[in-house]
Amino acid sequence: MKVLVVGNGGREHALAWKIKQSPLVKELFVARGNAGIWQIAKKVDISPTDIKSLVKFAKENQIDLTVVGPEQPLSEGIVNAFNEAGLKIFGHTKEASILEASKVFAKNFMKKYGIPTAFYETFDNEEEAVAFIKKMGTPIVIKADGLAAGKGVVIAHTEEEAINTVKDMFAGRFGEASKRIVIEEFLDGEEASYIAMVDGEELVPMATSQDHKQVYDGDKGPNTGGMGAYSPAPLITPEIEKEILEKIMYPTLKGMKAEGKPMRGFLYAGLMIGSKGINVLEFNVRMGDPETQPIMRRLESDLVEHILDILEGKISTVKPVWSDRYSIGVVMASGGYPGSYKKGYEITGIQEAEKDPDVVVFHSGTDIKDGKLITNGGRVLTITATGETLREAKEKVYNAVKKIHFKDAHYRTDIGDKGIKRLSQQ
Ligand code: AMP
Ligand code: GLY
Repeated sequence: MKVLVVGNGGREHALAWKIKQSPLVKELFVARGNAGIWQIAKKVDISPTDIKSLVKFAKENQIDLTVVGPEQPLSEGIVNAFNEAGLKIFGHTKEASILEASKVFAKNFMKKYGIPTAFYETFDNEEEAVAFIKKMGTPIVIKADGLAAGKGVVIAHTEEEAINTVKDMFAGRFGEASKRIVIEEFLDGEEASYIAMVDGEELVPMATSQDHKQVYDGDKGPNTGGMGAYSPAPLITPEIEKEILEKIMYPTLKGMKAEGKPMRGFLYAGLMIGSKGINVLEFNVRMGDPETQPIMRRLESDLVEHILDILEGKISTVKPVWSDRYSIGVVMASGGYPGSYKKGYEITGIQEAEKDPDVVVFHSGTDIKDGKLITNGGRVLTITATGETLREAKEKVYNAVKKIHFKDAHYRTDIGDKGIKRLSQQ
């Protein structure tokens, strides 16, 4: 069959890499992709949000299945448009995607259905927001309502910073996305990502993982889209997983159905596990980036088969098989990211890094210019490695990272440490 992957990032490279291995797939396309994905899939020069052109392409080329990576096309209705055209696509409708696209919707939804989340209020004007900040004190968390590529959240440690953030957001720092904001209580603890494939009120869990949002080691500095992840996450014990399913995942699916927004696709709950129990920080209606990269390295069964079964209404038969190995992904980013950064620097050393058979390098923001591989985004590559232990995976991944070079590259050096520490205490 012919499969189309929509998206440009490391997540899409990992999905395409896995899809390509399916014996069901004869031809793989990507819109628009990056230099890494173009090595394994045919480039379709259409933006992931140009839905009309994607429908036309899929029809003309008899695409049998489309898999959507990022949130933007989902929230702009790519699934609705493909469904209307009679084309098979895996992902949520525009209506269901609001669970990620609007933090105000997500918070009000969680409150209504009793899904544990930080105490919050929503605001559309500065005066009331400032009064709330003064009442709540700091640290406090301020979130733009709409999509902001993982950067619309600020954890303010002083009242001044909080008030300035609110002013900034209402002044249009994230455009339309920050016309409304959520202000919520700061939760301490450790974060984890819980991702499942879902259909209606049923789900199939993916392997657990832990992302690292902050740009610097020790979870310091501003938030990014994610600087590295590993799977499985020892933090998520079987007991914790049971609670996540019972108190968060199933009630979310039930609630969304009751709201007339049934879900089908990937559902990702970003969790904080700490002194206040397990709380949802955010929902995403897609796989995580970079979580997908280490997770796909551990999936032994056929992702395409699983997706087709779900689309045929047979989710209860889907039983993914996961490798027992540990897997880590480390993001190499452009100097300056998540702030401003330069593009166009040559990348070298990937082949050398991939000489270790346990290493796979996924591309995020890369391009080809004059026959050379160059940087083309904030997050440039995700280097993944697997190992018998998390420690071994870490050693392998950083050995590989050290072989790859581009000007001003930066990366965290502590991805995996939280899991290694937890495992050594068990
Ligand atoms: P979100 O997009 O809502 O998941 O927020 C992005 C990141 O901000 C999260 O992954 C956390 O690192 C942090 N964060 C969000 N909300 C809170 C909170 N209430 N307390 C502490 N940290 C938070
Ligand atoms: N890694 C976090 C996200 O994909 O939202």
